[in-house]
Amino acid sequence: MTRPLLAARLQGLGTTIFAEMSALAVATDAINLGQGFPDEDGPSEVAEAAVAAIRSGQNQYPPGTGIESLRHAIADHQQRFWGLSIDPDTEVLVTAGATEAIAAAVLSLCDPGDEIVAFEPTYDSYRAVAAMAGARLRPVTLVPPDHVADVDAMAALVSDRTRLVLLNSPHNPTGKVFTTDELSALATLCVERDLIAVTDEVYEHLVFDGTHRPLATFPGMAERTLTISSAGKTFSFTGWKIGWATGPAPLVTAVRTAKQFLTYVNGAPFQPAIAMGLGLGDDFYVALSSTLRAKRDLLCAGLRAAGCEVFVPQGTYSATVDILPVGGIDGL
Ligand SMILES: Cc1ncc(COP(=O)(O)O)c(C=O)c1O
Repeated sequence: MTRPLLAARLQGLGTTIFAEMSALAVATDAINLGQGFPDEDGPSEVAEAAVAAIRSGQNQYPPGTGIESLRHAIADHQQRFWGLSIDPDTEVLVTAGATEAIAAAVLSLCDPGDEIVAFEPTYDSYRAVAAMAGARLRPVTLVPPDHVADVDAMAALVSDRTRLVLLNSPHNPTGKVFTTDELSALATLCVERDLIAVTDEVYEHLVFDGTHRPLATFPGMAERTLTISSAGKTFSFTGWKIGWATGPAPLVTAVRTAKQFLTYVNGAPFQPAIAMGLGLGDDFYVALSSTLRAKRDLLCAGLRAAGCEVFVPQGTYSATVDILPVGGIDGL
């Protein structure tokens, strides 16, 4: 065999590190800071709605695009929080978490040899799905402490082969919430160079400082942006794997075509529960971010007390630190 198998190349990308850290945490009875999930469940009424859906027989394959009530709830959410008008019938796709939406987007929108520009460090699936699609990820590094988006550096990477800008804001793992100026510059780049944007906004409601604004809300972007999010983070039910992609019908249709051959459909009884959750009042969304802000502060204080330099996250589940002061030389 002359060429390493894809699986070996994925291993080489370090994508198994989180699974290994979780296994190590279990084996050593240590607190697991390696994987992003909350330490408590989401709203009990949402959980009860899933139980009721199972009991009432919503256990067979749902429609390929997701059940109607969830598609409407997602469209209403985009309008309510971000002022985006979305057609629930043609511009919404329910996916098996944001991870599947990202994978299906990359697989359906990139040909082998295409390039994807993104800010790094990236969520671990980005490099892996680029490799699965035969595409190449061209990263621009976010440098601490402020992790400023160097859009000029990104523009310099754009070529005839560039197909996608893959943006994650709020950003895992830096906790950066991209500013209006940064997003505006990125939007200009996409419009001027005729690029499709795929935005991973799973932490849209986990913002502690600053303000999240979807890239799709910038001039010229609604028609070229696929916006991805997930109920896992918003409702603290990460194991349910209900995510979605919204955007112009041709992009959503492309993603649906790939999803059809990945999972086809997912999470039948969880879909009505999340439809109900998305309609919860503003008090729920405010409490979510204030509870996590307090946990962010506790974690950062602890890491500081342990001797690390902490780059305080503006949102998300993660915090990054410089481990040099405590004798570390490599975060992995
Ligand atoms: C940036 C980012 N995107 C996507 C995901 C995955 O979301 P889901 O569990 O809905 O697939 C995560 C989970 O940690 C994440 O941090």
